[in-house]
Amino acid sequence: MKPLRIALTKGRLEKDTVKLLESAGYDCTAVREKGRRLILPIGDGSIEVVLAKAADVITYVENGVCDLGVVGKDTIMENGRSFYEILDLGFGKCRFALAGKKGFDFFSGYEARTIATKYPNVTRNFFEGKGMDIRVIKIEGSVELAPLLGLADAIVDIVETGSTLKENGLVIIEDNVAPISARLIANSASLKLRKAEIEELADKMETERKKMQ
Ligand code: PRP
Repeated sequence: MKPLRIALTKGRLEKDTVKLLESAGYDCTAVREKGRRLILPIGDGSIEVVLAKAADVITYVENGVCDLGVVGKDTIMENGRSFYEILDLGFGKCRFALAGKKGFDFFSGYEARTIATKYPNVTRNFFEGKGMDIRVIKIEGSVELAPLLGLADAIVDIVETGSTLKENGLVIIEDNVAPISARLIANSASLKLRKAEIEELADKMETERKKMQ
């Protein structure tokens, strides 16, 4: 049978997932020594890890070329379509925040504000909920630059420790948008066709997650 394929978001979530899988007893040596390889066997080879960018993890799972994926709730909220979210992995914790320059009164005045963000859908939904008209500018990274350079009035971004905001003179205006952490997602057909294997892996991951908390 084909190996069960799990797509991991490259970087921090990949590292945390590998730690979790190792404590659950899966040999992840190949992932640790991956070099530039993007598809790697783990355990006895019945599982294969695919390393991808966050939004692409969702694309591969939705299209069924990966059975499972590990991706942040932020990416799910921005791109989520049709797949199952089967487990909150508990790591990669952060939150969405609206932030701007210190001393700037964001909610005053009648002019539509300009918001820079990597998350245009999340941002539009957030302001729609408030009944506020805004303009969104999509930025690919280091969004904090946009208000500093005068491109935007504020940003919507993920905040973990808050130090990036602080060190760049920005303050949180609101951060009750949504709590975020890494999620295990599954392709809907795989969930039926490979139920036993997926359940075994998800159960082991959940047991380890509980131990780690
Ligand atoms: C994220 C986010 C903030 C920072 C928040 O960026 O976009 O910039 O982390 O973390 P903190 O609250 O602990 O400072 P990331 O490192 O993913 O890089 P990017 O901005 O280039 O996407």
